[in-house]
Amino acid sequence: MKTQNPTPLVKADGMTITPGYMPGFGNDFETEALPGALPLGMNSPQKVNYGLYGEQLSGTAFTDVRPERTWCYRIRPSVKHSHRYEKIDLPHFRSAPDIHPDVTSLGQYRWDPIPLTEEPLDWLTGMRTMTTAGDVHTQVGLATHIYLVTQSMEDAYFFSADSEMLVVPQEGRLRFATELGVIDLEPKEIAIIPRGLVYRVELLDGPARGFVCENYGQKFELPGRGPIGANCMANPRDFKAPVAAFEDREVRSTVTVKWCGQFHTTVIGQSPLDVVAWHGNYAPYKYDLRTYCPVGAILFDHPDPSIFTVLTAPSGQPGTANIDFVLFRERWMVMEDTFRPPWYHKNIMSEMMGNIYGQYDAKPQGFVPGGVSLHNMMLPHGPDREAFEKASNANLGPDKLDNTMSFMFETRFPQQLTQFAGKDAPLQDDYIDCWKDIEKKFDGSPGKK
Ligand SMILES: [Fe+2]
Repeated sequence: MKTQNPTPLVKADGMTITPGYMPGFGNDFETEALPGALPLGMNSPQKVNYGLYGEQLSGTAFTDVRPERTWCYRIRPSVKHSHRYEKIDLPHFRSAPDIHPDVTSLGQYRWDPIPLTEEPLDWLTGMRTMTTAGDVHTQVGLATHIYLVTQSMEDAYFFSADSEMLVVPQEGRLRFATELGVIDLEPKEIAIIPRGLVYRVELLDGPARGFVCENYGQKFELPGRGPIGANCMANPRDFKAPVAAFEDREVRSTVTVKWCGQFHTTVIGQSPLDVVAWHGNYAPYKYDLRTYCPVGAILFDHPDPSIFTVLTAPSGQPGTANIDFVLFRERWMVMEDTFRPPWYHKNIMSEMMGNIYGQYDAKPQGFVPGGVSLHNMMLPHGPDREAFEKASNANLGPDKLDNTMSFMFETRFPQQLTQFAGKDAPLQDDYIDCWKDIEKKFDGSPGKK
């Protein structure tokens, strides 16, 4: 299996750059890799220090009520990192709408982990789309993917004009070398790569597997906490944006662009990661899921799983998300006289779940690390028989759910299975049977519990 060391990032003076981060969610950051590279007090001086070119990257419309944009000061303007494009085919990297007549999306589905492979796969060729929802052309909905990466991208770069990418590693560490700096990412962390940002993905050690939620719609933001107040859940200070880092490497390189669901490649003569300084609020960031402070029930019953929302990407309808990213992690269960696991339910939202590590309380068996499940719009689901019986008969004291970290990509739009998910991925045909042994307990007598 081929694993390279990541490309060293070197400053102009020959010093190697250590990835560094600036804390805060949605802050207006400023950072420079060379002293004096960032213009002070203005965005677009007549001449920029070091002969850099000033350029604005806008992630929202200019007239948005809260514009998100970043000013970049770079060795070459982006027009030099974009030449004639040729379409290429990445058959497993799909976009909505992707509906196949011979694939049935209606059903409760669960998959084993897609096994890691000896095949040479990079961030693009290793992307396996599981579901799509909405329409990439109208910037509505999402795609969910599993990535298998066995090779670093070498002099190869990528950006998605279609989407913001939420990356959830499950195995192996990745380096995202982006225009705005370097993010090193490991399991139990997540990263967000904004729409339009150019980057390269490298392996930091062995092969890597994980999950991606591709958000076609409005950007992820922190959920409104309402009566919870100013603290807990995901705290803004725990989100980290990278400091500026640049490459001055003149070598034949490719840039692949995802645009309206199609892939296009252009050849250029240098690394496009040449931003020496930047300031703004449109940036990649990472977040350590171990810093998520869960809030829950402390006497009886328990709230809807929305209480565990880390990030939400709004739709046009307030309170009804294009995507919620929800985390189920270690926590204490203290509720009295309560059925503690998730209850049986049907939901207008469609739920794609993934297991990062450990055991999920509603499904002690079968939902394993690296595996995913899908409970689509209005399809019933809930604890299997074993979980139901155990939770209904347990002596209830304070109990810690330990060694557990699963997540959900939940969307208001029904999710369609790709051909890969329906035909090639390791689907558990017997998943539906996890409920088959649930007994009728009702016999007309009121006291039976
Ligand atoms: Fe659910």
